[in-house]
Amino acid sequence: MTKFHAAFEKLPADLDRNRLPKHVAVIMDGNGRWAKSRGMPRFIGHQKGVDALKNLLRCCKDWGIPALTAYAFSTENWGRPTEEVEFLMTLFERVLRLELQEMMKENVKLRFVGNLVSLPKSLQEEIYKSMEATANNQGIEFTVATNYGGREEIIQATRAIAQLVREGDISPDDIDENLFENHLYTAGLSSPDLLIRSSGEMRLSNFLLWQIAYAEIYVTPVMWPDFDRLQFYKALLAYQQRDRRFGKL
Ligand code: IPE
Ligand code: IPE
Ligand code: MG
Repeated sequence: MTKFHAAFEKLPADLDRNRLPKHVAVIMDGNGRWAKSRGMPRFIGHQKGVDALKNLLRCCKDWGIPALTAYAFSTENWGRPTEEVEFLMTLFERVLRLELQEMMKENVKLRFVGNLVSLPKSLQEEIYKSMEATANNQGIEFTVATNYGGREEIIQATRAIAQLVREGDISPDDIDENLFENHLYTAGLSSPDLLIRSSGEMRLSNFLLWQIAYAEIYVTPVMWPDFDRLQFYKALLAYQQRDRRFGKL
């Protein structure tokens, strides 16, 4: 750990331990621009982005934030050049293989959300292996959205529920928010309290459309590979200054 990071090893004193978000979601954007601005190919940015995510996961653990969800690949990202898509798929697979032991040691409960069956077979194998291995871990809940699209998630939930109605298991009147949530990829996971997007873009890009209904949104111009503990501290500070009213007074 660098000297700089040592200063942020523990939760900074001006953050209120009792008012931390229980679930943080991140749209990890800006890897390509980070690389480009340094005259490097985009894939270097993606590699650096993995390091930033690993550091954030560790930071959440050190500071007592129990759940982290990261957007790694959207259903729209298939539209990128084949080389980039293939690079990302291989990167995910390699990182999973390399990090599983560490995640077991750190007691991380890993989960993938998204349309997983459309991912390359070898990646799927690593995904299911790591989810199974970490299923009973009691530490931080770490969710990775891969081939994830909020609209697609809502449609597949609707289909599953329609099927239950057709089979006579439930009636249309039984469909409420609770039942619907239980058919989303994120079933059983609390909704994010704080959504962070890096690289300055003020949009959701199809991320967790249902779940972020009442999340506090924090956008930073920092490119994802540069998102470190100092940046996370700033996001949490901003979060703690918000007045979460949930529609009430
Ligand atoms: C985010 O960085 C990572 C993925 C979407 C996979 P980008 O690759 O979108 O980087 P920019 O936005 O082009 O800089
Ligand atoms: C959102 O970033 C998806 C991920 C971070 C995985 P994009 O770079 O794909 O989003 P847009 O294209 O700027 O909306
Ligand atoms: Mg982007």
